[in-house]
Amino acid sequence: MKLFIAGIASALLAGLVVGYAAMSLGFFPANADTPPSRLETWIAHHALRATIDRLAHKTANPLALNDENLLGGIKIYAMRCAVCHGAADGKSAADARGLYQKPPELAKHGVEDDPEWMTHWKIRHGIRLTGMPSFGKVLTEKDIWQVTLFLKRMDALTPKAEKAWKAVPSQA
Ligand code: HEC
Repeated sequence: MKLFIAGIASALLAGLVVGYAAMSLGFFPANADTPPSRLETWIAHHALRATIDRLAHKTANPLALNDENLLGGIKIYAMRCAVCHGAADGKSAADARGLYQKPPELAKHGVEDDPEWMTHWKIRHGIRLTGMPSFGKVLTEKDIWQVTLFLKRMDALTPKAEKAWKAVPSQA
């Protein structure tokens, strides 16, 4: 039994030493212009899902669905988010094309199906090791709920909000 445990401990230690050596020799890519390995992508998605499950509060959006809040959300989106997530034309934002991970063009691959508490969490806390910043220190809670409301309703906006959304300049 002792021998077995010693065997496992040495295997783990050898793994750590090889991993450290590979990292020190530059074999774990830290550049942003090669696609991530499948293992890396799996770890990132799995860790994000687990973190959200553990930490996010499943609260409803406290704001009313009306023009004022939708227009507020669109204004914030145009100022802080379009540079990475693009405008209503769904074209990829030029400044974000070299980003790793690539931000989704939210007009095309939106989050209307996600619960609002989840989107709110991602905006407030950001997504580690991607370009998605945490906006908790930049935007107020109301701002974050407004932009969350807009993203949730992006495919079913009021006529006024639809007009404002279409007027956000393309980032392509
Ligand atoms: C500097 C670039 C950048 C900015 C600015 C940015 N994001 Fe992101 N965002 C990203 C990236 C990159 C991802 C993808 C993260 C990943 O792969 O998990 C992302 C992911 C997201 C997601 C999750 C999408 C999904 O399908 O799950 C939401 C929602 C989001 N961002 C909203 C916003 C909002 C709202 C703003 C503005 C307040 C914003 N982002 C600003 C880069 C950015």
